[in-house]
Amino acid sequence: MIHISQRGPAADSVEVGKVRKNVRMTSIAIVTGASSGIGAATARRLATEGFHVVVAARRVDRLGELVDGIVSAGGRATTVPCDLTSDESVAGLAAAVADLDGPVTLLVNNAGGARGLDPVERSPVADWQWMFDVNVLGTLRVTQALLPALEASGAGTVVVLSSTAGLIVYEGGGGYAAAKHAQTALAETLRLELCGRPIRVVEIDPGMVHTEEFALVRFDGDADRAEAVYAGVAEPLVADDIADCIAWCATRPHHVNIDRLVVRPLAQAAQHKVHRVGP
Ligand SMILES: NC(=O)c1ccc[n+]([C@@H]2O[C@H](COP(=O)([O-])OP(=O)(O)OC[C@H]3O[C@@H](n4cnc5c(N)ncnc54)[C@H](OP(=O)(O)O)[C@@H]3O)[C@@H](O)[C@H]2O)c1
Repeated sequence: MIHISQRGPAADSVEVGKVRKNVRMTSIAIVTGASSGIGAATARRLATEGFHVVVAARRVDRLGELVDGIVSAGGRATTVPCDLTSDESVAGLAAAVADLDGPVTLLVNNAGGARGLDPVERSPVADWQWMFDVNVLGTLRVTQALLPALEASGAGTVVVLSSTAGLIVYEGGGGYAAAKHAQTALAETLRLELCGRPIRVVEIDPGMVHTEEFALVRFDGDADRAEAVYAGVAEPLVADDIADCIAWCATRPHHVNIDRLVVRPLAQAAQHKVHRVGP
């Protein structure tokens, strides 16, 4: 049984016979991994762009706080608890979305992350398993489940949050790079396969983004190691920067498909070339 909490101003409605019908249908955007970082920032931003935002993740308490903030700022948002490593949970997400009024025009596959920085010869298989399950198979499950609704809208957009690690490898990043390369391959293949149908596929590849949890998750809660990732980098990207990129791609006229947007902080010229100051 899935608990869904829907909040926000009611859609405009009009009496037709004995039935009240919506006359202004707000477009629905689903954001996975919205309980923190880039996902939360994207949900907030899309709400200001006028979307009814469906926020999905496992930590419902954090989603609740996010929805409260969106609603008090005048937006519409719905919480759907979802573990995207579970077929059943993802089916529940699709069912919850189907119960909402309005065309489903945007899916942001954001949930994901890295585990570990071990060389290939020593990295735990379980870390790779987790990274593939969340980043790759999670994106696959959710995209498959929501494609019919996106197509039915007549103007769907699938955003895939991959990474610069989906374009190039680095030492210690084998499992994450492999998963993100797979996510990139999924996005590129999907775009080819959907050609001629009304769904565009947008891949966003960020470099270093200073979010509160990404490096903490990667280093299993080791805060010092996590902070060291950003040490001396004057201005790493922040979650709002990526939300801005996603919102820009999603709000272009629908015939404009931004295939891939690679975005890094000024201080990061390449994966291995980061300008740091201080001790
Ligand atoms: N930060 C960076 O430097 C960076 C750079 C390039 C790309 N990216 C990508 O951008 C995305 C977001 O990164 P972030 O920095 O915002 O990371 P984050 O703060 O760690 O957020 C990750 C999100 O994924 C969700 N998630 C994890 N496992 C899940 C599961 N089984 N089911 C549902 N949701 C799950 C988490 O929610 P729950 O734990 O509540 O489920 C959380 O909301 C990721 O795909 C990441 O790989 C990040």
